[in-house]
Amino acid sequence: MSIIGKLFGSDDTNALVMDEPRPTSFLDGAQDVIGKPINRVEGPLKVAGRAPYAAEYPAERLVYGVLVRATFGRGKLTKVDDTAARALPGVIDVITDYDTFIRSPGQGGATDAPPQGVQDVQYFGEPIAVVVGETFEAARDGAAAVRLEYEEADANFVFAAHKDQGKEPKKDQIPGHSKQGNFEKAFNDAPVQLDVTYTTPSQNSTAMEPHASIAEWRDGTLILHGAYQMVASDQQQLAKALGVSADKVRIIARYVGGGFGSKLGIAPESVAAAVAAKKLGRPVKIVLARQQVYEATVRRSNTEQRIRLGTDANGKIDALSHNSLIANTPYEQYWEPVGVGTHFIYGGENREVNHDLIPMNLTAAGSMRAPGEAVGMMGLECAMDELAEKLGLDPIELRRRNEPAQEPEKQIPFSSRQMIPALEQGAQLFGWSQRKKAGTDRRGEWLYGMGVAAAVRSNQLQKSAAKVTLTTDGRAIVDTDMTDIGTGTYTILAQITAETLGLPLDKVVVHLGDGKAPASSGSGGSWGAGSSGSSVYLACEGIRERLAKSMGVSVEEMTLKDGRAIAQNRAVPVTELIEENLSVTGQIEPGKQEKKFHQASYGAHFCAVKVNAVTGEVRVERMLGVFSAGRILNEKTARSQCLGGMTFGIGAALTEELIHDERSGKVVNRDMAEYHVPVNADVPQLEVHFLSERDIHANPIHAKGIGELGISGAGAAVANAIYNATGVRVRDFPITCDKII
Ligand code: MOS
Repeated sequence: MSIIGKLFGSDDTNALVMDEPRPTSFLDGAQDVIGKPINRVEGPLKVAGRAPYAAEYPAERLVYGVLVRATFGRGKLTKVDDTAARALPGVIDVITDYDTFIRSPGQGGATDAPPQGVQDVQYFGEPIAVVVGETFEAARDGAAAVRLEYEEADANFVFAAHKDQGKEPKKDQIPGHSKQGNFEKAFNDAPVQLDVTYTTPSQNSTAMEPHASIAEWRDGTLILHGAYQMVASDQQQLAKALGVSADKVRIIARYVGGGFGSKLGIAPESVAAAVAAKKLGRPVKIVLARQQVYEATVRRSNTEQRIRLGTDANGKIDALSHNSLIANTPYEQYWEPVGVGTHFIYGGENREVNHDLIPMNLTAAGSMRAPGEAVGMMGLECAMDELAEKLGLDPIELRRRNEPAQEPEKQIPFSSRQMIPALEQGAQLFGWSQRKKAGTDRRGEWLYGMGVAAAVRSNQLQKSAAKVTLTTDGRAIVDTDMTDIGTGTYTILAQITAETLGLPLDKVVVHLGDGKAPASSGSGGSWGAGSSGSSVYLACEGIRERLAKSMGVSVEEMTLKDGRAIAQNRAVPVTELIEENLSVTGQIEPGKQEKKFHQASYGAHFCAVKVNAVTGEVRVERMLGVFSAGRILNEKTARSQCLGGMTFGIGAALTEELIHDERSGKVVNRDMAEYHVPVNADVPQLEVHFLSERDIHANPIHAKGIGELGISGAGAAVANAIYNATGVRVRDFPITCDKII
């Protein structure tokens, strides 16, 4: 039986709903390029400065916009006095279009914001107008000259003062509240109890490339070069904000300098640029200043997490509770799903996972680097370390004893899960057996310690499409609106195409990021490679079917290699099997497999630190991660994703904290000099290993999400190492010197 089945229709589309497992894959082909640590195919363009980012496209008669931001934290704007700004040389216009909301509409997802404009300012730094100038300098001076009049109103700027205002949020990827069994009774009856509260601060994605847009209207259609992760949904958001239909908006994002969630949704500069370009009839470029990125895109909410674990004398969990307080701007619905990993990582009959959302007059909270797991696993995996200490058990043994046979809440099997093997292999590679009792390894004024934590990140498949064209001159061209935000998408899509069609890699051309092309999953939620990769795979599968037919054999009989189709002692150049360019669109959609099998990626983090006993200074000495994420499509780009995630873990544990002024909500540390991401001197040699795995339930290419796996749990491994070094448990992140001393 052909494994292609009835997928191949007359409209040149090979569509698959993931209802059944897909055991066979043409990725196990003869070209031998898949999985290999291939250098990024667009790398030479990037290092030579020839890969244009959003703000780098030329445009005729281009003018520049600079946003004017609220200089107060909450209240009514009564007047925008633009007299002085308009009088400046080079200033073209000051646009305060209250009917189009210039603020970013619900970047984290859904929003309740009434599109009434911004007279009602909700947070310090909220964009309220745009000044357009012939030069950037004129626009910038103009923005500084705009005078605002306003009446301040009551506001929530201080999280700790409004904890009683938390409410259950609307169901998102997980319910806001969930319970099973009787937690309170089981916890009270448990012979061993742990009840601890962890806090994590506001954070900012801090992508290298600031948010930027060049907007131009051509014949009633907006063409916007933007720095975005998800072109198709961003086009819809932008169209909605502008009150036009989505087919009148085309976003182009060929190269994106990092997103980390902050570019999932549109940011305020895109709406402002589009409004200004329409009014002036000229292309408008707006690049957010770094300070505006911190103030007016999205942050990650701070969290307060109360974790209670009740076990029997052997450490088997019977009661598990993870309750989180999180915040967002009043009109925003997005909430950080702190407990998403808690639902499935450990067994236990009686459990509750609750989230309560507090309205705060701070920059909107949205998705950032593994929303949920990144902070939730810091709390939970530190609590597990505390529990192990309390039980006198090795932390890996504690996890072994609580490894569930199936997903503990939905009671469905895992599609694949190698968390314990990752912990065990990591322990060996890292030298875990050398770990000493907490606070006992002192050499001079330095204390040494090791920590461990598990990594989990939910795997999701998203609807995604791509067109692949086999040309009569023997190349394959991939077209999709999928983005490469530095993750390696160009490279893995080229590898999938080359492998499946049996072409040398340099015969594959990948075009990404154009909203005119078939709509993809976009880059987010670690689903990009699996989803967009599957769509490309399916398109190639359709082309294989055609080639086999043309050759008069079945697809299974045919091998494709180096541009030739080989079957029954014949080897024919594929170009001789097609009369004209052959295009097939591949499309993948999630189906029943997601409901029948719980899908997640797994891993383990190990960390060695030294802590100065006099100053409290922490130096991370070594980190090692072992990860399993289904098929690894490119060993180099996958590894880079994990290295980045582990580095974020160091930042979350030790340095990253967005600080709000308690009087106005203003972000105090609004640049990379004061918002501390780890730099080279903070990051030691990191080691990444992969466990071999194929997940036939996930998608036809058997890969699971890897982008955000590396951060999930990483910070906990660092914190647990600090405890092991010092015997001091800090439950308030980041763990700065003052908290250790
Ligand atoms: Mo990610 S925070 O879903 O880009």
